[in-house]
This record gives sequence, C-alpha cells and structure tokens, in this order.
Amino acid sequence: MSYITVTDGKSVIPDNPTIPFIAGDGVGPEIWAASQPVFDAAIAKAYGDQKKIFWQEILAGEKAFEETGSWLPDHTLDAIEQAKVALKGPLTTPVGGGIRSLNVTLRQTLDLFACVRPVRYFEGVPSPLKEPEKTDMVIFRENTEDVYAGIEFAKGQSETKQLIQILQEQFAVKNIRFPESAAIGVKPVSEEGSKRLIGAAIDFAIEQKRPTVTLVHKGNIMKFTEGGFKGWGYELAETTYKEKCFTMNQYQAIKQAEGTEAADASLQKAKDAGKIIVNDVIADNFLQQILLYPEKYDVIATCNLNGDYISDALAAQVGGIGIAPGGNINYDTGYAIFEATHGTAPDIAGKGKANPCSLLLSGGMLLEFLGWQEAADLITQAIEQAIRTKQVTADFAQSMDEATELTTQEFGSLLVSLIKE
Ligand code: NAI
Repeated sequence: MSYITVTDGKSVIPDNPTIPFIAGDGVGPEIWAASQPVFDAAIAKAYGDQKKIFWQEILAGEKAFEETGSWLPDHTLDAIEQAKVALKGPLTTPVGGGIRSLNVTLRQTLDLFACVRPVRYFEGVPSPLKEPEKTDMVIFRENTEDVYAGIEFAKGQSETKQLIQILQEQFAVKNIRFPESAAIGVKPVSEEGSKRLIGAAIDFAIEQKRPTVTLVHKGNIMKFTEGGFKGWGYELAETTYKEKCFTMNQYQAIKQAEGTEAADASLQKAKDAGKIIVNDVIADNFLQQILLYPEKYDVIATCNLNGDYISDALAAQVGGIGIAPGGNINYDTGYAIFEATHGTAPDIAGKGKANPCSLLLSGGMLLEFLGWQEAADLITQAIEQAIRTKQVTADFAQSMDEATELTTQEFGSLLVSLIKE
C-alpha cells in the first residue's frame, strides 16, 4: 500500500495511493457504486497503467454504528490520518448520539480549516436564473471558528446566568434585552484562523488565474469578529501578497489622498500587471449581488456561517444540491476530505433516483488535489456531455423537456462509456 506523504509542507503523491472512502448513509452506497467505476475509468484513460487509486472502505455513520457500536470508529480517523486524503458520501446526523454532527467532528478533529465549494453551471441543468452560465465562483468558507465552535449556553443554565452577570457587572453590558430568558452563544473569529483561510483563497486565485478575491462579511454589525476578518484579509493581501495583490482598501486610500483619477489609474495598473484584486462585500448585499451580477465574482473568502448560507444559495442558482461538490482541506498538513455536499436524501434512498454528480465532482476535486487534472477533466467533460444530451437522473429529468431519465447506476455506466470513447 502506498500513502501520500507531506514533506516541507508539500504533498508527495505516489502513483498508486490508497484512498479511504466512506460510502455513507441513505443514497450514499448507491452514488458510491455508480461513481467508483467512473473514477477508475477516468484515471485509466488519462494515465493507462501508470496510475491507479486503491480505494479502501472505512466506516462512519449508520453502517459503522451497526457494525462497531460507534458512529465514528477510531479506526476511521486513523485510516484518514494515515492516507491524508479521503472521499465521503453523506452521513446521517445521529440524534442523541452524543455527537453534534459527524461532518463537523471530522472537520474539527483534522483541523480542515477551508471548506472549498466550486460553483459553476453545466449547460442544460434546470436553473431559476435567466443566465445561470454567468455564475462561476469558488467559495472558501472558514471551517473551524465562528458560531460553529459550538460554544452555547441554554436559557436558564447556571453558566448562562453567570455569563450574563459577568457581562453586566464587569463589562457594563446593558443591552441584553431579556437577561432572564436569554440563551448565549459565543462567536470566536481569530486573526490566525482568518488569515490562513484568506491566504488559501488568494493562493488558489493566483494558481487558477482568477482576477478577484472577495471578502464577504458582516463587519458593519460585528465589528471585531467579521470586521476583523475583513481587516486581517486586507492586511494579509497588502503585506504577504503585496507583489501579487491590489486591494480596494489601497484604492480608497489613494482616492482620499490623490483623488479618483489616481486611484482608478492604480487599479488599472494592477489589473494590467495581472494582480489579483481583493475587495469586500457585506454579506446581505452579497446575496443580492450573486443574483443580479454573478459575473462580477470569482473567489469568495468568508466566515463559517455566511459560507454555509452562501454555498447553498449559489448551489441553487446553478441547479441545486445534487450537483454541488465540496472539499474540506488543511493546506498546511495536507489533510483533505472531499464530500458530496447534500444529505442522505432518505426520501429517495434505494430507488435509483439519486444524482451522483455531487460525489463525482467531489472525486474530481480530489483528483485535482492529487495533481491528476487530466482525469478530473475527463469526469467533468463526461458529465457535461451527459447533461447536454439530456441523459440525466430523476431530479433533472423532471424539469427538463424531452430528457431521458436514467437510474443512478445507469448514469454512472453512461459516464464510463463516454470516458472510454
Ligand atoms: P438532503 O440533502 O438529504 O435532502 C434534501 C432534498 O434534496 C431531498 O428532497 C432529497 O431527495 C434531495 N437530494 C439530496 N441529494 C440528492 C441527490 N444526490 N440527488 C437527487 N436529490 C437529492 O437533506 P435533509 O433531508 O435535510 O437531510 C437528511 C439527512 O442528511 C439528515 O440526517 C442530515 O443531518 C444529513 N445531512 C448530511 C450531510 C452530509 O453528510 N454532508 C449534509 C446535509 C444533511
């Protein structure tokens, strides 16, 4: 068995890496069964016998609970730590199992700080927009901080009362409107956490030659947490990345000192030099902007909760959750889990109706992460061709004219034959 190693912060990828997968619950096993042959066919077509992935099944969720009594066995985490990179289907969130969410646990245990969601349109996919092809963004959502840290105290709990008392007596807080019945949540957002996420977004923009990075925040209301996120982002772009970036913060400073013409000239000069333009948008405005002017945005860096809302809103713009891929990545340690972004879809599980594109495209992201771009491209192209020719699963077929409805497995087989052509 060969494993990925990390030397001097760089991943070294063997030709035959062992990659663990979690098929997942609900529709998970169906979409996995349809997808694995597609991954293998794309790798074989791109590299012949030279490269191959050894898929190693590991357990989490219901199957793990049935077989081992644990929702997330230690062996599963050990296997991911050893292999560094894994692929997973959707997992049921255990109710009352002592774990808030298996996904959140995996992200926090491995410190997978960036949740990366590329959002693009595939021609032919039913979309609520008139020009859905204008949406082409990659979201970098901070994955370890913000209200997702889970620091919450319930109404009436003694800790809540103590906290409220400390806030009122020691910090002169007067605006807890109903202190007797308030629950309290804590929102940690750090300079370190923000900068590593925003740095990953800028690195990505540089590598992929994307023209802008937009910091999305609610800094007008949450000045030190989300406002901090924005400020640290600008600072990072203007120091560490000063040769590669020009910020709208710098633009404003030039405008104030020398006027609009000079600021416009500096902006143009930066664009001509191929610099990444780093700007910021307040989150509520951003949700309008992505509907009205999606073409203005490329790479998005944002805090955890905003990222959650934005990812789903953007996914819906280009055809919904059956087709949205995602990766949870720590760019420093090289750990990464790529995953279908939808849930277990219990309403259609076992019926052959699930769309495997989310898992397929997440696998494509995994291949890109390994540097196997050619294989990733073959998967994307096969999906493009299948959708363009209206050979699709039930979710798309129901809102497409004259579509041929395929089962999950048939859709996978079609992609394999398109790749082999
Ligand atoms: P869901 O994403 O499972 O389903 C929402 C709707 O989307 C359903 O109508 C479903 O049929 C449809 N859908 C989802 N995936 C689809 C696919 N591949 N093809 C076609 N249609 C698809 O969300 P829901 O019902 O809120 O959650 C069900 C379970 O999944 C819960 O236990 C939840 O905690 C878990 N979940 C897990 C996630 C993960 O593992 N990443 C993410 C979201 C939810």
